[in-house]
Amino acid sequence: SGTKTHSIACIPADGIGPEVIDAGVEVLKTLSNASGSFKLNFENYDWSSERYKKTGKYIPDGGLDSLKKHDAILFGAVGAPDVPDHISLWGLRLAICQPLQQYANVRPTRILRGTESPLRKASPGDLDWVIIRENSEGEYAGQGGRSHIGQPWETSTEVSIFTRHCVERLIRFAFQTAQSRPRKHLTVVTKSNAQRNGMVMWDEVAALVAKDFPDVTVEKMLVDAMTCRMVLQPQSLETIVATNLHADILSDLAAALAGSIGIAPTSNLDPTRQNPSMFEPIHGSAFDITGKGVANPVGTFWTAAEMIRWLGEDEAAKTLMQAVEKVCENGVLTRDLGGKAGTKEVTEAVCAEIQRIY
Ligand code: NAI
Ligand code: MG
Repeated sequence: SGTKTHSIACIPADGIGPEVIDAGVEVLKTLSNASGSFKLNFENYDWSSERYKKTGKYIPDGGLDSLKKHDAILFGAVGAPDVPDHISLWGLRLAICQPLQQYANVRPTRILRGTESPLRKASPGDLDWVIIRENSEGEYAGQGGRSHIGQPWETSTEVSIFTRHCVERLIRFAFQTAQSRPRKHLTVVTKSNAQRNGMVMWDEVAALVAKDFPDVTVEKMLVDAMTCRMVLQPQSLETIVATNLHADILSDLAAALAGSIGIAPTSNLDPTRQNPSMFEPIHGSAFDITGKGVANPVGTFWTAAEMIRWLGEDEAAKTLMQAVEKVCENGVLTRDLGGKAGTKEVTEAVCAEIQRIY
């Protein structure tokens, strides 16, 4: 057996996206060279708000078919000050996630060694979660409409869609993830007291799927109470599953509790592996710091580790995270983590640490 080559599509897109993706590619190249155990081919796609403003489209005709040729997609961030956010999000990110059936959004969160949580009593080890977000329907299904636009009697609807098929496949994936973690503990987030249709079905499906995973401890939490639990008893949680909207909000809270939105990764997975999965830092395009060289690349490094782990390179993924945590411990931190280093310094330090490990 020779060394395996993985083909990666890069979509840096907008704002700090290109800055952090450049850093991520540099670190990945260093990792594959130093380990010698796998190779990566990168192909760049210039799909961005600039392209949208010039051509009226984020994704050119046939674009999705070219994406499907790759083993994984590394995504930066999309959003520009002069394009409405719902246009950019639906034009690029959701336009990839939905047709490629990336129905499970996975967001690991933990306090990295060398960084601090705003929670006074929490240190590394006290907060180690994986949040699984429904990524194909729910509150972001895109159903609804507007009538009498601009009139005082304007009407708008935003309809949540919960199908048994999609809820079940997602909850099953969440149980499998919980089963692979040390405590095998799953929290199912819901709001079935107030939302008495979709959320009640969600709970019923969770109870049915639970029967196939007798070794997983499962509990139900209302989403509002969940916010308190995350802040007050972070140690009590391990794997969490929630709807598209609920998990969107909870995972930003999780990122902040772990120290900064600049360090958190997210994976948009097609667990059937029929399509490439997409990996991205959870932060947006951050116009306020674009072009200043201060964007934290750690979210993209962690994203890169999740990506190669999904591609089967477990050892290299572990090494990459080990290098990132060592650099944080050495105090090479960007401003959002209380340090003074720039994107370039952190990237060089991580590359040097990878070379030192091998
Ligand atoms: P944002 O994540 O871009 O920025 C929020 C705050 O966090 C800003 O103060 C920013 O400077 C800081 N920040 C973010 N990433 C950082 C990093 N790597 N290092 C240091 N500081 C960092 O969220 P915001 O401001 O709400 O949105 C800006 C644009 O990004 C909007 O157009 C929005 O729609 C888009 N967006 C795109 C996402 C995506 O592509 N998945 C996700 C979130 C927002
Ligand atoms: Mg969000």
